[in-house]
Amino acid sequence: MSLAAIDQRLKVTHVPRGRPETTLAEAVRRGLSHTPRTLPSMLFYDQAGSELFDSITELPEYTLTRSERSILLRHADEMVAAIPDLAEIVEFGSGSGEKTRIVLDAALATGPVRYVPIDVSGQHLEASMRGLLVDRPTLSAHALVAEYFDGLRALPKPIGPRAFMFMGSNIGNLTTDEATEFLKLVRREIGEHDRLFVGVDLVKDLALMRAAYNDSSGVTAKFNKNLLARLNRELGASFDLDAFDHLADWFPESSRIEMRLVSRTHQMVTLGNLGPFVFQEDEWIRTEVCHKYTPTSIKELGSTAGFKMVQTWTDDPGWFMVAAFGAEIGR
Ligand code: TRP
Repeated sequence: MSLAAIDQRLKVTHVPRGRPETTLAEAVRRGLSHTPRTLPSMLFYDQAGSELFDSITELPEYTLTRSERSILLRHADEMVAAIPDLAEIVEFGSGSGEKTRIVLDAALATGPVRYVPIDVSGQHLEASMRGLLVDRPTLSAHALVAEYFDGLRALPKPIGPRAFMFMGSNIGNLTTDEATEFLKLVRREIGEHDRLFVGVDLVKDLALMRAAYNDSSGVTAKFNKNLLARLNRELGASFDLDAFDHLADWFPESSRIEMRLVSRTHQMVTLGNLGPFVFQEDEWIRTEVCHKYTPTSIKELGSTAGFKMVQTWTDDPGWFMVAAFGAEIGR
């Protein structure tokens, strides 16, 4: 198929940031001035980070992607059948689009589909869209290069019943408050016959949860430290990558893995004209949260935002769940 034919079916919109103060430098300054220090995890996904993330999904210790794929392979037809005349699939944090392919193909078997992926990694998004469109003539795509909240505000006018997808335990990377706020906004978009599918990693054996973020080949550590490498590249920061350790541990009180970068020594870091930021030995920056849910806790989270959990599917070991949410009538 010619490239021109693909271009006719692909639209890419770069959505401007809703909050102007969130320039890279400002977001970093804020995060590093916060107690505890944090850095926004969406900064992971520059081109290098997105490629490292794709490697994470193939690690033997990282089971989430394979678990979710096994569920989709088995149940994509049912998911699609739950939405009569499904016309459109909106996905938050689509990444490489690898798993979405399964749902898209199930939907395309029933009729033409418009795919609306929302992702911060623009280059990655466009490349994966072209891959998807090439041999699927009844698929069109309107990609939004944006953060979740901005993308949600910039959705194209619906062309028919919609499936919203928030897969890969991406919801786990939001704090509980952020997740609730986000779901409430999604809820406003949901019509009576629409569905929101959420893929969540379930609370499981501690060793398994820890290992997923502490792989023996060090890819996750590299992914974590790429954030500092990015700040060095883009903000002229002076982070010494060898002076920080990757740490990922389980915090039962918040039911989440936290990923941190821990300073090995007392040191000073400058960021262009920002700083200096002084790090004590063992002082850390939180770079990610990965919440793990139970079937009950994810149902409750949905309910707080006006959703009713209508169906769930798990993989064989019970490690991962895809939950279908619908509009709770009267809300
Ligand atoms: N949402 C997935 C998870 O929580 C993927 C992910 C997001 C991830 N940030 C990460 C994986 C950081 C490893 C490290 O696992």
